[in-house]
Amino acid sequence: MGDRRIIPRARDLTWVAAEPDDRPARHSESGPLRGCEHAESWRSACAQERDRGAAHDGQRGIVSDVTGATAGTGRLLQRLRKEAGLSLLRLAELTHYNKGHLSKVENGRKPMSIQLAQVCDQVLDTRGALTEHACATAARSRDDRLPLAQLPAAPRRLHGRTRAMARLERLLLGRSGAPGGVPVVCVDGMPGAGKTALALRCAHAVAHRFPDGTLFANLCGDERPLEPGDVLGSFLRALGVHSDRIPDDQQERAAMYRSLLSGRSVLVVLDNAMASAQVRPLLPGSDGCAVVVTSRQQLSGLLVSPAQATRLTLSPLATPDAVDLLRSVIGDQRADAEPTALAGVAMRCGSVPLALRIAAVWLAAHPRLSIADFNRYLKVDTGRLALLCAGDDEMQAIQGTLPEQRGRAESRRSSCSGCRDCASANGGGPEPLAEAR
Ligand SMILES: Nc1ncnc2c1ncn2[C@@H]1O[C@H](COP(=O)(O)OP(=O)(O)OP(=O)(O)O)[C@@H](O)[C@H]1O
Ligand SMILES: [Mg+2]
Repeated sequence: MGDRRIIPRARDLTWVAAEPDDRPARHSESGPLRGCEHAESWRSACAQERDRGAAHDGQRGIVSDVTGATAGTGRLLQRLRKEAGLSLLRLAELTHYNKGHLSKVENGRKPMSIQLAQVCDQVLDTRGALTEHACATAARSRDDRLPLAQLPAAPRRLHGRTRAMARLERLLLGRSGAPGGVPVVCVDGMPGAGKTALALRCAHAVAHRFPDGTLFANLCGDERPLEPGDVLGSFLRALGVHSDRIPDDQQERAAMYRSLLSGRSVLVVLDNAMASAQVRPLLPGSDGCAVVVTSRQQLSGLLVSPAQATRLTLSPLATPDAVDLLRSVIGDQRADAEPTALAGVAMRCGSVPLALRIAAVWLAAHPRLSIADFNRYLKVDTGRLALLCAGDDEMQAIQGTLPEQRGRAESRRSSCSGCRDCASANGGGPEPLAEAR
């Protein structure tokens, strides 16, 4: 099976595959062969080519759907040209296309543009046979393209967050109606607050409102932040641009990305952003699109820049939701047996979803441990929860999640950022002011 990612949409074929010589200097208004006796034979030729193309495509998968169909249109052109008694050179003269280019089209090495098909139809008087074939090929490549559906799975259940979900949905679907007005929502909050979970749940819920699909990138936070140029490269490939057509320059990549999204309706999810500068080049400029960004930081730059993003800050869960989360993992029976101790665990987890899940999974793995004993264990040192983490990722995420550690982190942030509002509501302080430009 070929690599389906390299298949461009039909209309991208013009961008990706068109060469300068695939443009006529001028068009012939009327075909010199109009009325010739061969004109009736095109229908059967056309049908045969379609049949051959279909058999061919069925054997070799999606990539060959395009190349096979391209070859099919080329073979049809060659056949009709020969039936008209024209040499390639004569066809080139009559159509004002380059002979070398026509030869490549006939051999299936270049796709036939709709424009060329129209001119050849006129010259060969084929009543639109080539145009019909070229359009069908283009439509087929559009139908067969890999759907743009990059969202990872979302958690099956979110506890609480009903209002946050509704607000995020409203913001994403609330088209401003202004040309180029793309809704951008920054979901921020402390590590493990459930930013990614919320963004993905919401993105899946509204994905059907973005008929051209979804793009997703994990920008990797501040551990090893991805360069916007690299993200653009993978987005462009997902949009069907062949690797060797992707410009080196980041600005050119961004321009190509915006061009390809123009007129399309795509939802873009940018998870775990480190700074506004990392996100800005990834914003589409087409009003049918929308963007959700998640970050541990407050991305002030996006809030004040032309993108005018809206901020949605996630706080810890309300206590009943936090207890519900624990209950959903350890089961009703155990939760009902020790409700007070369970509320104590929720409190020691700061009602932060990541900490809650770690505690719950650990409790579930130790069915004979009493919740009260576990609560006492956490009480000695809240940081002990970090020791229960399953892996490095969780270890890192849990840093600063628990109440004790968060207090320390917040006082550090508020003293350096000077913004107490953000530091108290949010795990991350605002970006330096320079970012806001
Ligand atoms: N409301 C919720 N209900 C149940 N589980 C949740 C909820 N929110 C998050 N979770 C779970 O908590 C864990 C952490 O959530 P998530 O990864 O979304 O946090 P985050 O804020 O994106 O963390 P980070 O800052 O590390 O990116 C995940 O296992 C997620 O499924
Ligand atoms: Mg996340």
